[in-house]
Amino acid sequence: MLPEHRRFGLGKLLIIETIKQAGLLLKQESDYLESIKIFLEVAENNVTAIHLYSAFGFEKISRRSQYYRTPNGNIDAHIMVLKVCDEQG
Ligand SMILES: CC(C)(COP(=O)(O)OP(=O)(O)OC[C@H]1O[C@@H](n2cnc3c(N)ncnc32)[C@H](O)[C@@H]1OP(=O)(O)O)[C@@H](O)C(=O)NCCC(=O)NCCS
Repeated sequence: MLPEHRRFGLGKLLIIETIKQAGLLLKQESDYLESIKIFLEVAENNVTAIHLYSAFGFEKISRRSQYYRTPNGNIDAHIMVLKVCDEQG
């Protein structure tokens, strides 16, 4: 998100839409799928994004060592996952 467009709720909207799409796919494929997992990577020092993802229930499950290059050296990425279940699950 460009800095001038941040803090207007667009990040939240993107996540909500992604989760909705996963829910729709689950409904369409209910004969085959019980759940969908959404994975993402985020730099371990990206407090803002981690806070946002955590608020939607994403959980840290792993890390990728030295995944991002920064001018101050490499930093790890957290791998986060959200499991979207059908209404019964
Ligand atoms: C992370 C990012 C996508 C969030 O997008 P956004 O449109 O600004 O986020 P929103 O306005 O929807 O805010 C959603 C929540 O994020 C958190 N948040 C956003 N900016 C924050 C900040 N500067 N400090 C603390 N929390 C913040 C808050 O929990 C906020 O909810 P609230 O407003 O109800 O408190 C945006 O900051 C961004 O593009 N950052 C740089 C690139 C990046 O980090 N991308 C993600 C890579 S994994």
